[in-house]
Amino acid sequence: MRLFLDTANIDHIREIARLGILSGVTTNPTLMAREEGVEYRDRVIEICEVVQGPVSAECLSRDVPGLVEEARAIASWHPHVVVKIPVDEAGLEATSRLSKEGIKINMTLIFSANQALLAALAGATYASPFVGRIDDAGQDGMEVVREAVAIFDRYHLPAQVLAASLRHPRHVVEAAKAGTPIATVPYAVMKAMIKHPLTDVGIERFLADARRYTRLPAEG
Ligand code: E4P
Repeated sequence: MRLFLDTANIDHIREIARLGILSGVTTNPTLMAREEGVEYRDRVIEICEVVQGPVSAECLSRDVPGLVEEARAIASWHPHVVVKIPVDEAGLEATSRLSKEGIKINMTLIFSANQALLAALAGATYASPFVGRIDDAGQDGMEVVREAVAIFDRYHLPAQVLAASLRHPRHVVEAAKAGTPIATVPYAVMKAMIKHPLTDVGIERFLADARRYTRLPAEG
């Protein structure tokens, strides 16, 4: 299983990339809008250089010709770029054309297993169910991940489920248990995954004990 970071913040990406646990990044217009004074193309290229793995950048066009043209342009920015396209009729048609050209597509805003199946059939490389937003609507977001993983496995579809809109560390565990090959995780959730209070207590206790037989500096 691989972990992506769900952000356009370059400092957060650098920090997590240093840990050696990061395989890619997903961005969207909302995340990009949080980065003041940043030029979209420049930031995507900057992220690609740090991550050295797939970096999703979203199309804004709403019709097929516009999507195809925009996706080709975005894909030309860097070899690591994956083009994000929403899963509606125009998105499916554009994806089926672009995937035949070898352009990698992350079909986004997926809220059902049927949409994930259609994304895979259109040739998308990744299908992104939005777990947290499905939960917000009173349904079980992780069930869509489980169903999509089962369908892709059952029919040997090459598309990969990319569990998205994850809101807390338990979501990541559940996505991993569901067999999703990739989960994209916000920075705060990634930090929460690393942290456990008993780890901090354990370190402090070991250091306190070690001071009894070594010359470690005093506390504080
Ligand atoms: C993933 O590709 C999306 O950018 C993201 O996970 C959406 O998450 P949100 O529902 O928290 O905005």
